[in-house]
Amino acid sequence: MVNNGHKRTLITLNPEAKSTQAEEFERGLRERVIGQDRAIRTLSSLYQVFQAGMTSLARPLGTMLFLGPTGSGKTHVVEAAAEELFADRNSIIKIDCAEFQHSHEIAKLIGSPPGYLGHRETPPLLTQENLDRYRTERDPFTFVLFDEIEKASDALWQLLLGVLDKATLTLGDNRRVDFSQTMICMTSNLGSKEMSELITGSIGFAPARSAELNGDDLDQKIYRTASEAARRKFSPEFMNRIDKVVVFRSLKHKELRQILDLELSAVQRRIDEGSGERFIFTLTDEAKEFLLNEGVEFRYGARHLKRAIERFLVYPLASLSATKQARLGDVIVVNIDDQNQKLTFYRDEAEASKAAASMGASHARQQPGDHDRIAA
Ligand SMILES: Nc1ncnc2c1ncn2[C@@H]1O[C@H](COP(=O)(O)OP(=O)(O)O)[C@@H](O)[C@H]1O
Ligand SMILES: [Mg+2]
Repeated sequence: MVNNGHKRTLITLNPEAKSTQAEEFERGLRERVIGQDRAIRTLSSLYQVFQAGMTSLARPLGTMLFLGPTGSGKTHVVEAAAEELFADRNSIIKIDCAEFQHSHEIAKLIGSPPGYLGHRETPPLLTQENLDRYRTERDPFTFVLFDEIEKASDALWQLLLGVLDKATLTLGDNRRVDFSQTMICMTSNLGSKEMSELITGSIGFAPARSAELNGDDLDQKIYRTASEAARRKFSPEFMNRIDKVVVFRSLKHKELRQILDLELSAVQRRIDEGSGERFIFTLTDEAKEFLLNEGVEFRYGARHLKRAIERFLVYPLASLSATKQARLGDVIVVNIDDQNQKLTFYRDEAEASKAAASMGASHARQQPGDHDRIAA
């Protein structure tokens, strides 16, 4: 290329490259959030804009709106992001919009003017101190989650618009709160009724796996339903203030199975870190299918799965632990009964000695024998 007689050398750059930190963040999110790639990439690219110091001034660092079916991970992805960056999924300012329907409830967020009844009773949620609480040197910002914004009252809506627009909020006592170092995530289940009809309709009574055949088609329809519902409900002024709108996909059998594995590891961690007996449990594939069948209603995504895990797995395991049928170093095998109607629990003696040796347990049972039935 020739310019003013000088020869210019142009080197091709890669504008899609990720910094190590953004890449790590993305990788961590991928381990915790299944099947929602677009949401993950959105979070990591806004994070990278922040890292590069290129966010616009006097605005929040990023504003995202998450739409899509119930139980698809909209709230979860924000908590997972906090866990990834701040080591705790509760390191976010979370506003459940449904809880702030009346004006006196807004006072819980911003406090009331001096002299008003209730002034100084409890400090409001959205103070600068609270906002800055989770910041770290590496990541000096905070995730603020407005959950289920379609339920927000007018007063809360005004508050939200102000924050998105100017990144400031005035408390009841006139103190100013600066939101310029926050990532604002908003979720909405808008259109979820139509979506659940789409999902149920597309699956019908066919075996769960057939849902994957028309998955792309379904996602397209969900995308359209969500975007149209959002356009009807939210004003253009509001939509224009959002950096990125992401429509979550409906979770399919394959993804729910992966989420089940994540949740099972979480149960194991509870055992490892709890004060009770520290044993290991494993599930056969049949036992996993049982939990999926009990815990999954596709239109509720992964919502029921956790409840099924508590009821069919955690309670029985707790009973085994409390009654010392499962003890330090034991390996508990979980299967299903012949009628496929409930989970059955066994202690694997051979595995137990191995595990005990590696855990350094001193009072592991020594007698051999496999699958000694201990509870039904
Ligand atoms: N995509 C996902 N990846 C991993 N876990 C998920 C996902 N979606 C849902 N879950 C699990 O299900 C629970 C409910 O999901 P949630 O994020 O509250 O759904 P919603 O989309 O309605 O906000 C989460 O706490 C999480 O444990
Ligand atoms: Mg939610």
